[in-house]
Amino acid sequence: MSGAAERGRQVGFGIDIGGSGMKAAVVELESGTLRGERERIKTPHPATPAPMADIVRQLVEAQGWTEPLGVTFPGVVRSGRIETAANLDSSWLGVQADELFSAAAGVDVVVLNDADAAGLAEVEFGAAKGRAGVVVVLTFGTGIGSAMFNDGTLLPNTELGHLELDGALAEHRAAARIRKDEDLGWEEWSARVQRYLRHVELLFSPDLFVVGGGISKNPEKWRQHLDVSTEIVPAELANGAGIVGAALVAATRSARTALPQP
Ligand code: BGC
Repeated sequence: MSGAAERGRQVGFGIDIGGSGMKAAVVELESGTLRGERERIKTPHPATPAPMADIVRQLVEAQGWTEPLGVTFPGVVRSGRIETAANLDSSWLGVQADELFSAAAGVDVVVLNDADAAGLAEVEFGAAKGRAGVVVVLTFGTGIGSAMFNDGTLLPNTELGHLELDGALAEHRAAARIRKDEDLGWEEWSARVQRYLRHVELLFSPDLFVVGGGISKNPEKWRQHLDVSTEIVPAELANGAGIVGAALVAATRSARTALPQP
């Protein structure tokens, strides 16, 4: 049975929530590619639940989407409930986001951590496809997101961006945003990333690092400065990864729940 058949349909729909934008697209589930352009609406400020749920509704309506869909969230999400929201409004804490978005969109919505979604897309279609062992996918953006896999199985909500680095949260020292905010050269920033990756190596002995986020587009800027023992590859799905992973999870879950239960 092909991957798409397991998921019960050929296309899915994903929304990726970030601190500055909420992005959506229809996804081809056989190839992991986006069908057409991504739709993007600015994240409201303050980034509170009600206006963001309304944007989810707008994005769904704009595509005329009527099937289950996936939404990523930049924080810990357990069974659809938001448990941390480092870069969004703290009124998200404790919100049952799957119910909120499902009510707004009028269809079933599954919610998962943004880096977990991006990691799932890399495992299914990208840089980690077919890779056994322990794979750590890290997304460098406003924060540092992480997704950890063993033989392709996700351990959700690992939050490795919140490890300590040089006396601070790692993402406050080494996120991609910090390079710009502190006007660091690539070499200087990479030195921080290297210390961070060595710490992750020490804890988890991974077989592969996949480096994602905007910086995956220009690996020649940072790759040469990183000296770690684990193999490192840039992510392949770039900015669409979260959308693809979210669509994939929603389609897989709805195909499973549609099966007769034993
Ligand atoms: C959040 C993570 C998220 C990462 C990337 C961090 O601040 O705690 O949940 O995956 O940012 O958005």
